[in-house]
Amino acid sequence: MARVGILTGGGDCPGLNAVIRAVTRRSLDRDWEVAGIRDGWRGLVDGVVEPLGRREVSGILPRGGTILGTTRTNPYKVDGGVEKVIATFEREGLDALVAIGGEDTLGVAAKLHAQRGFPVIGVPKTIDNDLNATDYTFGFDTAVMIATEAIDRLHTTAESHNRVMVVEVMGRHTGWIALHSGIAGGADVILIPEQPVTVEEACSLLEKRHATGKDFSIVVVSEGYELTYASGKKTLVAGEARATDQFGHVVLGGVGDALGREIEERTGFETRVTVLGHVQRGGTPTPRDRVLATRYGLKAADLVHESTFGRMAALHGDQIVDVSLEEATRELKTVPPEWYAVAQALAG
Ligand code: F6P
Repeated sequence: MARVGILTGGGDCPGLNAVIRAVTRRSLDRDWEVAGIRDGWRGLVDGVVEPLGRREVSGILPRGGTILGTTRTNPYKVDGGVEKVIATFEREGLDALVAIGGEDTLGVAAKLHAQRGFPVIGVPKTIDNDLNATDYTFGFDTAVMIATEAIDRLHTTAESHNRVMVVEVMGRHTGWIALHSGIAGGADVILIPEQPVTVEEACSLLEKRHATGKDFSIVVVSEGYELTYASGKKTLVAGEARATDQFGHVVLGGVGDALGREIEERTGFETRVTVLGHVQRGGTPTPRDRVLATRYGLKAADLVHESTFGRMAALHGDQIVDVSLEEATRELKTVPPEWYAVAQALAG
């Protein structure tokens, strides 16, 4: 009997359990055995694997997080990590692996496939929506919904108190969450890493808006936006920890506070800051994410069945297709100018 392993790596994300359920159910229907690997790549490095059956995946569709646990372990940064991954894989009698993750987790999968012929299929997960070669990653829709709801709620305080409300959202080095939630929430200024509008320009937009009689404003800023000044100076505000993980990422967060202070000092408008943080990643996935995650899971199981490895399930238009892991992880999918133009059309 053939055996497929499943792991979830990187930040948790709404819809992970929906993928696990779909891969498991379809594989069991084909009389495959399914093994859950604990805590991302760490489970293969340390050999922590558990059987997954119908019972284990029952009732998990609407649950946030991941029943398998997750870490940002990079086997290429662990002493003998890659050899350990391969040894566990063989010892467990696995024939294929479904790796559910973002650029880091899938970057490892791509490398293992390219260098060692490792039989792996990827599923694109991340609230950031920054994976190349797919229109959307699952988890993004939920994050945008949560951020939009927060913006709607902050509108009422903004209006009642005549304040500027700054909302800091996640997204790492791309501005997809800020852009979509900002457009959906009717934000007056949207600041993202790809379009470094200066602090001066942002303040002048707010002043112009207030001059027309609107005495409140909503500013959405992506955590990866560098505070950019007319002088050319740029500052990336990183979180207190400032540590990097095994993939070299610095912990972001804090730009909202810095920006809020600048706005208040430069315009004199009373300003408050809300940092949404991990609220954006928590809880139950939207129906759209559940459906997308389910379709990705079924596709991944089908690719495993066909032994078409080194591929990632992807969404092109409304079709689920497969693309190479190499293409998916070659570069980040950033917000193109035509998308930012939508936000600009209604700014201020
Ligand atoms: O990649 C998802 C994400 O939520 C980013 O938006 C954010 O920068 C990062 O993960 C936060 O990571 P952690 O949960 O390790 O603080």
